[in-house]
Amino acid sequence: MKRRSPRLLALGAAVMLALAGCGSISEVTVPADFDQPLHIPPLAESTIDDDGTRVFDLTAQSGTTDFSTGASATETMGFNGSFLGPTLRAKRGEMVAVNFSNELGRTTSVHWHGMHLPAAMDGGPHQEVEPGGTWRPEWQIDQPGATLWYHPHPHGETEDQVYRGLAGMFILDDEDTAVSGLPSEYGVDDIPVIVQDKQFTGDGQLTLQNDGNEIGLLGSTVMVNGTIGAHHKVTTEKVRLRLLNGSTARIYNFGFEDGRPFQLVATDGGLLRSPLEQRNIQLSPGERAEIVVAMEPGTTAMLRSSEPDLGAVAAPFAFGANDSFDVLELRAAGELAPSSAVSPTLSDFGTDEFDASVTRSFELEGRRINGRTMDMGRIDETITLGATEVWEVRNKNLFPHNFHIHDVQFQILSIDGETPPAHLAGRKDTVYLSPQKTYRLIMTFEDYADPQVPYMFHCHLLLHEDEGMMGQFVVVEPGQSAGAIPTNDGGAHHAH
Ligand code: C2O
Ligand code: CU
Ligand code: CU
Repeated sequence: MKRRSPRLLALGAAVMLALAGCGSISEVTVPADFDQPLHIPPLAESTIDDDGTRVFDLTAQSGTTDFSTGASATETMGFNGSFLGPTLRAKRGEMVAVNFSNELGRTTSVHWHGMHLPAAMDGGPHQEVEPGGTWRPEWQIDQPGATLWYHPHPHGETEDQVYRGLAGMFILDDEDTAVSGLPSEYGVDDIPVIVQDKQFTGDGQLTLQNDGNEIGLLGSTVMVNGTIGAHHKVTTEKVRLRLLNGSTARIYNFGFEDGRPFQLVATDGGLLRSPLEQRNIQLSPGERAEIVVAMEPGTTAMLRSSEPDLGAVAAPFAFGANDSFDVLELRAAGELAPSSAVSPTLSDFGTDEFDASVTRSFELEGRRINGRTMDMGRIDETITLGATEVWEVRNKNLFPHNFHIHDVQFQILSIDGETPPAHLAGRKDTVYLSPQKTYRLIMTFEDYADPQVPYMFHCHLLLHEDEGMMGQFVVVEPGQSAGAIPTNDGGAHHAH
């Protein structure tokens, strides 16, 4: 608590308002040794049914997990287990289906974050599944290879359920990822890295008590794939880390303790045009990045999160901007198998601003977007199928927000009128919003008109999302208008 007094005294009235509570000083503690082997979520098994559809089974359930904190078993939630979920994996062009069962004892949903798919399969608040209920979404994978993820999205309950463990990765492969030269042996040199911060009570339970922090909980314990103080044994010259910020509020600035460069090869929606040499990559909740790091035999490298650049926030320390801590240790074997060179060209894409026919603006303030909080019965935006649009998104507060759009991947055209840095020039579905800045995003709504079932756009700080910082859009055929929204349109039904 050493940072509290002098700075708080200096805060002005506006800042006090922004803080609304003020007890929120974050600090992360890590174990002295990173002695726990990193848990690798298993690849989900699947079957291929008669028409070639790849079928997964996913059950949301509760249970207890031993995080080796020394305390009693921690009550948690997971998919097909007690914490987190298996990694789903599919190829571009495949039909996939998921047999989902809700054994949580409370209402939930499963949303496929980053996936381009029909709104009725999206798993948002309009596809909630009641306790004991099932749901079977089915769609064709029709987008570039990427690191996506899945998590619950029930109205007002997302923060709690994701925080307690309901999250998993969904990896997509395509021709570009196949010839990229990237390390690709899952769990060996291609590693899922789901980073989450947690706060434990004295008796070892997870709490979301945030001392009134405006952005939500900043936990003092950090885990990767559910492992606290994790290391991964590296057996190859290069390792690919699929970084996912699966936290509710914390923003990480990943890099290595020794400052070594790495190659940034992909962001949320897939590969960059070419590998980008970086020493750090910042991720806000929901964002992903794939990086490739080279190792020397017999050495270690510590993945670290150092002070994130949150922009002109009112109270940097309260939002974690002063936090730096170790995350995951890579331990290289005495001999390393050779890795191939990463291809200098990875992928090709681009959307021309001249193709945009519509510009919309979104102002985020408090818990509102354009002055409104989430209403499941209200369609905020109606978009014509095939349209390319520019969305101008502005954070009007002095604290962090971010912005996530379902169904599409966008590109960032500009940030306050300036060309975005190269690491933000790829395919994105979630972007951090610095205070008082305007982000111009461009995207095309290529498929899946449905006037009745909306997709979501929202702040992915999960407290904000649950408190209503979300809106709904429908994609319609030219000339069509939005229809009335039925209360539950996802085909979910009871077990009995
Ligand atoms: Cu990852 Cu609407 O969410
Ligand atoms: Cu999403
Ligand atoms: Cu927000």
